[in-house]
Amino acid sequence: MNLGLSGSGARRRSSLGLPLPMSLGLPARAPPRLARLALGALVLLVLGALYILLTPYAPVPSRASARALQRTAFRRTAHHRRVRCTYSDAHWRRYRGLKAGRRVFLAVNLFESEAVVGMFFQELPGVIEALGGGENVYVSVYENGSGDRTPEMLDLFDKLLTALQVPHTVVSKGAAERSDKEEGKRILVLAAARNLAMEPLYLGAAAAALGGEPDEVLFMNDIFFCAADVLEVVYQKRRQGMHQACALDWDPGQIAYDRWVLRSMSGRNWYRTPELVDWFNGPNDHPKSVPFALQDDLADRVRFEAHLPLQVFSCWNGASVIDASAFLPPRNMRFRQSRADMDEHLGVPKNATMKASECFLSSVDLWKMGFGRIGIVPKASVAYTADLYDRWRKDGLELLPEVAVHEWINWRADPPTQVAFQDYAWWWVPDRWGPWDEQ
Ligand SMILES: *[C@@H]1O[C@H](CO)[C@@H](O)[C@H](O)[C@H]1NC(C)=O
Ligand SMILES: *[C@@H]1O[C@H](CO)[C@@H](O)[C@H](O)[C@H]1NC(C)=O
Repeated sequence: MNLGLSGSGARRRSSLGLPLPMSLGLPARAPPRLARLALGALVLLVLGALYILLTPYAPVPSRASARALQRTAFRRTAHHRRVRCTYSDAHWRRYRGLKAGRRVFLAVNLFESEAVVGMFFQELPGVIEALGGGENVYVSVYENGSGDRTPEMLDLFDKLLTALQVPHTVVSKGAAERSDKEEGKRILVLAAARNLAMEPLYLGAAAAALGGEPDEVLFMNDIFFCAADVLEVVYQKRRQGMHQACALDWDPGQIAYDRWVLRSMSGRNWYRTPELVDWFNGPNDHPKSVPFALQDDLADRVRFEAHLPLQVFSCWNGASVIDASAFLPPRNMRFRQSRADMDEHLGVPKNATMKASECFLSSVDLWKMGFGRIGIVPKASVAYTADLYDRWRKDGLELLPEVAVHEWINWRADPPTQVAFQDYAWWWVPDRWGPWDEQ
């Protein structure tokens, strides 16, 4: 497969589609023509600058009350940078089909997330609108233990959802309920928090509000994102009939962030472990290069570098869309910790273990129920700071036609027999290979 990669030059279609005049080797007669060209270029530059300055960050909600709440939220989080998101006609054409036909349960966990709540105020109204508004979308937020202004901002977010007539549950506990993450309880607590955000789905409140069970769960971490990223994940999930579709989150170390969760279809880690160890912890006595993704999965690597979706064994990576039926009867999947960490003396699974991430285990549990069409969507690149988002963002990326024809994933029906585990997130020790379903 020969994929013409779209380099950074093709990332964004320029609003000034004209080549600028070159000033080399001009004949003597040229000045009047040159002046006209220069003037033309100047006008185009000014128009371009105006276009950039005047393009709204995001579509503004149509209701005045919602707009006022949005402005209040922006004022109160003004000391945190938001990323600028733009919407082209290409976006609207691509995502307009998402409005109808599916009910979406949007779940969010937040913990001391003041810096990202501005993004939620900016981008989620557009996401909800594109997915059909309050008729189709139920929003559930669960926050526990924040010592910053997250609870106050969530109070405002609750009002925004009311103004937008979006059915929702916003639970904000604040600092009074600090989670006990000591003694290996971190995954237990995180899984519990995810399940609490899912409660309106588990207990039927979402179905009652939407007039039927949701079709999809869209679960978001505390990420910096543009609506186009989240919509791209939903779009790929529907278009390719996925059971789980994931965004891709980026690390300050210039590589994929949640590597504890991400496994390719060969069961391998995204990066070779010795190279990661050298990159992060190795001696500085030799030149270092950023580890390459998927070095031992060549076909996957080609797709990844072309920003095409690809099948994986497991993912989560900032935002994930999962078939809601996995969580509903009779399947009743729940976020959980590993059951494969035995207490030496009692010979039974430990009550609290951080052996595996609850987000890795959700992909494992999907495979167990035969839901193996799991894929990541590299075009939906998100991050945990505004600067990192800007560095990796691909929300304006349009695949070249010769690349886009390869967008379809050739699904494999079976998981790898063995998977590389990184028990307890000890990424610096050699991978331990074991049966994919042992956890
Ligand atoms: C919320 O905080 C309380 C108090 O620290 C803790 O007991 C509980 O486990 C936390 N719950 C979640 C889901 O984080
Ligand atoms: C788990 O907790 C229960 C109740 O506190 C206790 O009886 C049991 O021994 C614990 N199991 C392990 C493996 O520690």
